[in-house]
Order: sequence, then structure tokens, then C-alpha cells
Amino acid sequence: MNLKDEFIKYFVEHGHVEIPSAPLIPENDPTVLFNTAGMQPLIPYLLGEPHPKGKRLCDAQKCVRLTDLDDIGDKTHHTFFEMLGNWSLGDYFKKESIGYSFEFLTKVLNIPIKRLAVTVFAGNDEIPRDELSASIWQELGIPKERIAYLGVEDNFWIAGESGPCGGDTEIFYFRSDDEIPTKFDPKDDRWVEIWNNVFMEFNKDESGKITELAKKNVDTGMGLERVVAVLEGVNDNYKTSIWKEILTSIEKVSGKPYEGNEISMRIIADHIRTSVFISADPAGIKPSNTDQGYILRRLIRRAIRHAKKLGIDTSTNWMEPIALEVIKKYENYYTEIKENKEVVLDVLKNESIKFNRTLEKGLREFDKVVSHLQGNTIDKDNAFKLYDTYGFPIELTEEMAKEQNLKVDTKGFEEKFLAHQELSRTASKGKFKGGLMGHSEIETKYHTATHLLNAALKVVIGPDVHQKGSNINESRMRFDFSCDHKLSEEEKKQVEDLVNTWIKEDLPVTMEVMKKEDAIKSGAEAMFIEKYADMVNVYKIGEVSKEICGGPHVEHTGLLGHFKITKEEASSAGVRRIKAILE
Ligand code: ALA
Repeated sequence: MNLKDEFIKYFVEHGHVEIPSAPLIPENDPTVLFNTAGMQPLIPYLLGEPHPKGKRLCDAQKCVRLTDLDDIGDKTHHTFFEMLGNWSLGDYFKKESIGYSFEFLTKVLNIPIKRLAVTVFAGNDEIPRDELSASIWQELGIPKERIAYLGVEDNFWIAGESGPCGGDTEIFYFRSDDEIPTKFDPKDDRWVEIWNNVFMEFNKDESGKITELAKKNVDTGMGLERVVAVLEGVNDNYKTSIWKEILTSIEKVSGKPYEGNEISMRIIADHIRTSVFISADPAGIKPSNTDQGYILRRLIRRAIRHAKKLGIDTSTNWMEPIALEVIKKYENYYTEIKENKEVVLDVLKNESIKFNRTLEKGLREFDKVVSHLQGNTIDKDNAFKLYDTYGFPIELTEEMAKEQNLKVDTKGFEEKFLAHQELSRTASKGKFKGGLMGHSEIETKYHTATHLLNAALKVVIGPDVHQKGSNINESRMRFDFSCDHKLSEEEKKQVEDLVNTWIKEDLPVTMEVMKKEDAIKSGAEAMFIEKYADMVNVYKIGEVSKEICGGPHVEHTGLLGHFKITKEEASSAGVRRIKAILE
């Protein structure tokens, strides 16, 4: 039985529309690096915007959670996972939602009722105890002793600090051969959570105030890998059918069995799978020293270090056969995996070649540092040398230190790192001081080009064009904007010409710190206005553009080169997307 297929089939049969997984890298939310839950791409709809596919949706969403990065290597953690979910956007509520979950678990998956238990929200000063959910569970046959009431910490769900939220009911499965206790104790870890049904009826604003939403929603999430492990009766997630071929291929490449080498093999399996998904994502992420690119780099380099521990010759293209197994496993579900196969393989190969050049020497340097160590902490200078000269992400140095019961002065490293960034920024002409940390020269140029493109679209299409999203990497810029039609060839050319004229005019880029309300009054464009503090940076480009923005930007437009639109396409309803490059 294939859980993902069964889940989607069940909810489609019950009036839900299957939607494709949103990209792993959020399209219009610069505040998070990756989607971490199925509901994240649906936030606007949970807040009340109508969804084009209707009020009942379901999907398998690609997620990456980095909070567990240090735990990878154990039996249950993964950086990438798929979350199965079904949603009611102002349609059904508690009764139907609990009914569907119960029927799916007991009738489709054939889980015996005696192995199930649930928690419901105990309420607090503002929100009453959820007696309704408890009584629905009882009617379905879950005995009273198997229902536990828990407070805000456990049974109230919100993604981060603000947004749609509500009390939830969580479903647990008894994963053990022991006799099943009559009374459910949520602290007993033989009970594992398998599904979370959130009743999203509130919105929490940034000041922490909770108000009722106009429509009540349901948001559920089921961790695929965990439930597959339950269904297949194994207590190591990596022993499920999900990982079988991937681990077999690691065994083959290393010539070693899984038994006895679990930790390194799990890390390699997990990190290669996540790297495949990150580099296949439409955002076009490449290993780098910032944001998602840095995560990708860390994952690949950590996998390489563990490969070396297993005795794999890391100067070969050893990752490819493993990555191909990952691709084979997922390409029929996620088209980008199939489409970007070559890109993925190139990313892995190139990063591997790059790291392998310094890895051996870096490992020797590390051993030398350790053998000369007085005390138990690797100092900031050595940690920085390992980073700067040998390409060891600080987290890798920390992990290696930990294996020998040593520590690293990470705080000192951070200070040194920032000082170094500041130095190179001041040294490299064409950048303001104090912009975003760690952005490359070309990314800085794309930031500035984004403002020009925004301004040009307003001239060519009309003043109602507004920025809806933006994403920049070293090889291109992507810009989403409100617009109700596909741009004609003529319009595209006009936009391009206008941006290039402004580049040729070599307009000065200036920055002024202003009070937020003054900035808005003065007509400065702002996209995520509520995210900025009271005082904001307003960047002006000649007289053509004025935007609130964190920067960094080049000092004058002549530095940008030639601007070219490479693609214009629909992004979502009423939103168009332009991809462009600077040549
Ligand atoms: N959004 C809920 C979760 O991630 C379902 O647990």
C-alpha cells in the first residue's frame, strides 16, 4: 500500500481537490528559508482569500525543517519530509474533520481502534476547553481514558509567531509490542503522534493580539515518513520502503553494510535527499555562503565528510548513484525533480569537487589543531581558518569537535566572520556599508535591478503594478508583480529598453534613513511594510525609483551591465512573474 496515494485518493473521494506541492522555497515570503508545513503556502487562503481550487483541498507538501539538523543520524529525524494534509477553507469543521481522520486511519489503513489515542485542547483564559472534539472522538469509539486534555504548549498550533492559528487535536498510535495501557499518557513515548488536526479559527497579529477569523478552517498535517514506519512496523524510519533503494545504493558505494554504520549512512541518505530537493526547486538555489545556498552547502559538505568516514573515495562522483535513486523515487510525484535532474547532478558534482580539493588538508589541519589544543575549546582563529581556507562550515567543525568531546568558540568565530565580511565589503567598491550580510557582488546588482524593473513596469503597464515577490540568486533575478495580463512582446521590450536606458544614464543610488510613516507619505514603495521597524532605509535611484528596502545596492546604475528578460509567465491569479539576467 502506498500511503501518499491512499491519502490523496481518500480525500479526493470526499470532495477535496488535490493541489500540487508548492515549491520548497517559499515564493512570496522572505522571512522563512523553506516551507516547514503544508499550511504555509496556504496562509493567504486561511486568512480569507478565496482559493481558486475551492474550499476543500489536499496535498503532499515538500517541507524542510532545520531545527532538527543536529539530530539527523538517529532513527526518526529528517531534514526533508513530506507532509500529507487536508484543508477546509471555511467549509467543514470539527465533526467532519475528525470523522475523516478516524475513517481514514481505521478503515483505509486498518489501524485497530485500540492502538489509537488523542489529545484535545484544554483551553485557556481566552479560548474555552474543546469539549466538542472530545465528544466527537467518544462517539466514534475512542474511550474517555484515551483522550487527554493539554494546554497551549501542546495543543494550540501556529506557524511561528503570528498568523492563522487555533486549538488542535492530535492523534497518537501505540508503537510497541508491550500491552497497551488502558489509560493514555501523552508523555509515554510508546505513543507516537501521527496526525494533527488544527481548527484554525483565530488570527494572531504581531503584537500578540488574537482575533476571530471570518471563516473557520481546518488544517491537518501527517508526517509521511513517520506513518509509513508505523504501518510497516519498524522502529527505525530508515528501515522503511522509503529508504530501501537509497540505503542499498549507499551500501554498494561504500562496500559496507547499514548495520554498524547507521549514523553516517542515515546522514548521507538524509542530506543527499534534501540536497536533491533544494537544488531541483524552481528557485534555482546553488551552494553559496548565504541563506538557502548555505544550507545546501552545509548538507552536501557534511554528507561528504561522512562518506569519508565510511571509507568512500570522495574524489569520485560517488554521490551520483545515490542521488539517482532519490530522483527515481520522487520524479513521478514532483515534476521539477525530473526536469532538473541534470542541474541537481551538476550541483552535487561541482560542490563535491570544490570541497574535495581542500577536505584532506582541512582534516589534517583539524587533527593538528586538536593535538596542540590546550583546554577543550577550539579557538576562533582556528575555526575561522578551517572555514576560510578549507571550506569547513562552522557547524561541521563543531560536529567534528563534539565527536572528540571538544567545543568550538562559535561566538568568537561569528565576530571574526562578521568583521571579515565588513572588511571585504568596504574593500569591494560599489557597495554600501551595512547592507544585508554576505550578499555577493552580483546579488547586490540584482537587488538594484529589481528596483529599476519595478519602476519600469509602472511606467509601461501602469501605476497599479506592485511587487508581489522577489527572489535573487547568483545567476538570475525573479520578480512577481500584480498584473492582469500576459505581457506582449512590445511591452517586454519597452520594459527592457527603459531599464537599460536608466543603466546607461548611470543614475546615482542614494540611501536615506527615515521614519516609516514619513517614508510612506513621501510615496516610497514598500512590499512587506509591516515587517520593517519604525525607522527604515529608503533607497532612491535618480528620480526614477524610491523604495523602502534593506539593501544592499550598488552606488550607481552604470555598474549593472545589460538587463535582459529571459522569461515572462503567470505566477498565480493576477500575478505575473519575470525572470531576468544582467549580462
Ligand atoms: N500545520 C499543522 C502541523 O504542521 C497541521 O502540525
